[in-house]
Amino acid sequence: MAKKQLGILLSGRGSNFEAIAENVEQGGINAEIAIVISDVADARGLDIARQRKLEARFLDPRGKSREDFDREVVALLVEHKVDLVCLAGFMRILSPFFIQQFPARILNIHPALLPSFKGLHAQRQALRYGVKVSGCSVHFVDDGVDSGPIIIQAVVPVLDDDTEETLSQRILKEEHRIYSQAIRWIIEDRVQIAGRRVRILETPV
Ligand code: GAR
Repeated sequence: MAKKQLGILLSGRGSNFEAIAENVEQGGINAEIAIVISDVADARGLDIARQRKLEARFLDPRGKSREDFDREVVALLVEHKVDLVCLAGFMRILSPFFIQQFPARILNIHPALLPSFKGLHAQRQALRYGVKVSGCSVHFVDDGVDSGPIIIQAVVPVLDDDTEETLSQRILKEEHRIYSQAIRWIIEDRVQIAGRRVRILETPV
């Protein structure tokens, strides 16, 4: 059977993408990265993709409506026969059009234990709120912000002397682990969605 094709969308550093690419390269994820797309021309993630000889494209969102931009992204994803879209630090909200093109086939990673601390600066929100644990969540993307069904979460402690930086670093380490785990389950066809609940099956669906 042909390997499943991943499409990665990112806006910046690209460390989650890098962790996924490592797992793909080492056979931990039985798929191929078909394309990496960024809305930021000088995103470090694009450089990493190019260094890895992956197809890397910048699409300029300036002067376009959300949907017009998303139509360009979707066209590229379709052209590259992408099966699963992975948002990896992609700092844009997707249009309903985009989501409809890939039903239950778009994943996102968020640096908090959803449904807490949605949106931007999740680690800062967690520190300010004073929670004692935080973490990260991989979820399906629906038409809300960070609101789709959760596939996997990881918990980390919040320490008394944490700064946004140190907490983010601790969370990021877990992000790198659970994002690949979620992708692996999906590629293996072991993920079943029932309403908001996601079950991981022992054997493929
Ligand atoms: C990650 O911490 C990711 O969880 C977060 O952006 C960072 C991207 O880092 N995403 C969000 O906050 C989405 N709401 P990376 O570019 O090194 O993967």
